Amino acid sequence: MLPAYTKYICGTAATRQGKAALRELIAGLQAMGASPEVCGSQTPGLPAVRLKEVPGSEEKAVLRRCGESMEIAGTGRGLIYGVFHLLRHLALGEEFPEWDSSPAYPIRMLDHWDNADGSIERGYAGSSFFFRNGKPICTERTRDYARLLASCGLNGCCINNVNVHGSALKLLTGSFKRELRRIALCLAEYGISLWLSVSFSSPMELGGLDTADPLDEGVKQWWGETCLRLFSSIPNLAGFLVKADSEGRPGPHSYGRSQAEGANMLADAVRPFGGKILWRCFVYNCTQDWRDAKTDRARAQCDHFAPLDGEFRENVFLQLKNGPVDFQIREPVSPLLGHLEKTASMMEFQIAQEYTGQQRDVCYLIPMFRDILDFRFRARRENDRTAERISAVCAVSNTGDDYNWTGHDLAAANLFGFGLLSWNPCADPAEIAEEWSVLTFGDDPEVTKTVTDILMRSRDVYEKYTAPLGIGWMCVPGTHYGPSPEGYEFDRWGTYLRANHLEIGVERGPEGTGFTEQYSAELAALYRNVKSCPEELLLFFHRLPYNYRMKDGRTLLQRIYDDHFEGYEEAAAMSEAWDKLADKLEPEVFRRVQERFREQLRCAAEWRDVVNTWLYRLTMIPDEKGRRIYP
Ligand code: GCU
Repeated sequence: MLPAYTKYICGTAATRQGKAALRELIAGLQAMGASPEVCGSQTPGLPAVRLKEVPGSEEKAVLRRCGESMEIAGTGRGLIYGVFHLLRHLALGEEFPEWDSSPAYPIRMLDHWDNADGSIERGYAGSSFFFRNGKPICTERTRDYARLLASCGLNGCCINNVNVHGSALKLLTGSFKRELRRIALCLAEYGISLWLSVSFSSPMELGGLDTADPLDEGVKQWWGETCLRLFSSIPNLAGFLVKADSEGRPGPHSYGRSQAEGANMLADAVRPFGGKILWRCFVYNCTQDWRDAKTDRARAQCDHFAPLDGEFRENVFLQLKNGPVDFQIREPVSPLLGHLEKTASMMEFQIAQEYTGQQRDVCYLIPMFRDILDFRFRARRENDRTAERISAVCAVSNTGDDYNWTGHDLAAANLFGFGLLSWNPCADPAEIAEEWSVLTFGDDPEVTKTVTDILMRSRDVYEKYTAPLGIGWMCVPGTHYGPSPEGYEFDRWGTYLRANHLEIGVERGPEGTGFTEQYSAELAALYRNVKSCPEELLLFFHRLPYNYRMKDGRTLLQRIYDDHFEGYEEAAAMSEAWDKLADKLEPEVFRRVQERFREQLRCAAEWRDVVNTWLYRLTMIPDEKGRRIYP
């Protein structure tokens, strides 16, 4: 039963965002079966939802009970979040305490790796809805997307791939001015800022200059003029995202300039328009020779960026991936954050499940994100958790033009959860999962329990049947789906397992690559010592013999065998649990997810068999429990 106040809506909205909030309130209440009467600014003297728009651009929202009425107060942007908050709680059937909330970070965004031709790099949910046939497009879906982001508490999106190529280069030229303007206005209505990925060598690619040297006056002038044109024609443009000197992308290193010199030149160009630069730290040697055991890709972020702390302009945010390597199912938290005292940073998560099942396998990432946000760099220092050290958050998007947005219906929980965590990094992943389930599938307790259980177990299960104990990189090269333990072993990407018949892992302590020493003294001591190193990260930090004894007495190899057998069994149990919901869900939704589970089981069996067989062949040590290792 909806509360009495849902019968009337009082208040007028002045801004476009305020009007969007009002529209959402009406539509949301109607969808829940109410027929609210909108009374403008008059007070009918009856219980009502009262919208109170105040001037300004803050995102804060306040919900208060006033007698029998519910008041939502805020700026236009604040009202949007306030309205979605109210709708969520009404849909959950919850009475909730007053809500007076501001987001933890001023920038909470999704990064799309969408290409101008409509394809999506690492996209697993169809094609782009921002680009088609070489051009940006604005459709009804753009508006729905803005609503989707705002309803999760997000406020920005970068619409094009960090690997800028093809006609995406021309986003800077004015050729697509009209289209970009339409997208920007559509997003702005819901408080979502537009960001663009740009190529560092645009002055050469587009401006005909013979250099992109950040200290060159002609280059600076080119960027200045480009920004003037762009920012004055696209309202709501927040700035640029830049992947420079990374995986073959151009960057300041080509001119002997530092990352700070590159970023600052762009920061100066966007500053007059209030713009910001999101500068990626994914800089590493991607042409490594596997015989070179000194170079360690995990070290690269810190080696390049830690010495530059304090050299970046105020409107530069260093965007760093959550781990030191690349979105693997288990990595330590990037040590770089512990070094940035005078530089703004942005945590980059990936909800596109590139290495975590590609939205075919269920893998709810929010518990992992929460652990990362809770990570403490120095135990004895206040405000030293990741959540407190960063100033902004983003995630590589998992959406496309598939009917259900995310390919796997359950993958939408990652988008919702990322939004809620970026508003409040202390939000509880289990509560988010439960809430998402009720909002998505209704409030049948069995459905809620089953879906929440599946989501909460899914990361551990995925981890068990794939790469063990933090070692990562056993996936098929290129596609990154399915197992191929040595697929990257003799390649140039610096992602080695270094397994032979006696040992496995990369030694990253002082005797090895020295990566552990990039952490504070206490963390370095923890990771350096094989006895204190958390077991789930053992093979990330250490090279160990297969007969190394784990804390529970099993050998390392037996633990890996067991995990792979168990991972498959647990995936099968999740799939069976889903099957039991057949009568309780819309048939189409039930079937879609069931199909994904079938694929997940096929994939889990393949991972189990390939990894176990590979290790069995290398070591010739059989499974202690005598299970069949294929073939
Ligand atoms: C990974 C991914 C690439 C992507 C890169 C990046 O390596 O496989 O597709 O371009 O990350 O984050 O820039």
